[in-house]
Amino acid sequence: MLSKKEYIKISLELNLFFARIMKEHMIFMETGLLIIDSSLILEGDQLKSSFEEILKETVSISQGAIGQNILDSNELVTPFTLNSEIITENNTGICIDKDITMEELNLVSNPDFDFSSGLEMQVSNINQRAINLVMEVIKFKEKVLSLLLSCKMFANLYSLLVDHILREAKFYLNSLEDIEKRMKPKNGIIEQEIFWDTIMKEHAQFIRGLLDPTEIELFNTANDFSKIFDELIKKTEKAKKEDMFKITEETIKATIGIRDFKATGTEGLIDCTIQAMAYPLLGDHVLREANRYIRILRSFLKK
Ligand SMILES: [Fe+2]
Ligand SMILES: [Fe+2]
Repeated sequence: MLSKKEYIKISLELNLFFARIMKEHMIFMETGLLIIDSSLILEGDQLKSSFEEILKETVSISQGAIGQNILDSNELVTPFTLNSEIITENNTGICIDKDITMEELNLVSNPDFDFSSGLEMQVSNINQRAINLVMEVIKFKEKVLSLLLSCKMFANLYSLLVDHILREAKFYLNSLEDIEKRMKPKNGIIEQEIFWDTIMKEHAQFIRGLLDPTEIELFNTANDFSKIFDELIKKTEKAKKEDMFKITEETIKATIGIRDFKATGTEGLIDCTIQAMAYPLLGDHVLREANRYIRILRSFLKK
């Protein structure tokens, strides 16, 4: 059973991370859809705006309430986020609320923060609305995925990408539902590592597939990361609890590796020194997901 403080803190930290992730998934889908599917583009844009509202509200009540470890991990915003948003908005024409990012960059942690009952009610209201909204997002992604898989539409989106962001949305929904039952989100170490290793492997595959064919070195590095995480997944699937310390150490090393690769890639997209069918926000997004995974892995080691 979560205490009031835990409930508020865990909820805010989860929503700060995932509400941003959810709105960016909508940006990715919007940029990949064609004019023939303009009604889907509008639907996606609406969902993006709704998640921006959730994020904005969450940021406005998070000052002081979240952990220093969350701020230090750079999983909410990175030094590249704001620039990535500016360039991505200019290049795609999709509106991005950058005020939220600037506010998030000013968030601090206050160890003496007062976790009041009023705040608990505000948080519960946000969680309920986030649950409804992420259910809509899941339906939207399932609809697009089914059209792609049945070849009833063409989009500049890999089916695996839509499936990937669908799994991330389901993960967020499950965590919210656990928290609303006042339970800590289920976090069996083996299941979590398999989930996030698969996410990291697929990021490597997306990067490999979006690079310009002339970017041979980066292509090879991305391909190597895909193999490294594939091996880790196989190892983790066969692992017993007592093997997990060693595997987790190895996983941290691999995740720091891909995190640094993503950071360099994001910088390269910002400075236009890398050619790819991608914009900087895509790089910054997968970078934040790696940053979060590194923090989670470190917390496993501490346990
Ligand atoms: Fe994502
Ligand atoms: Fe992802």
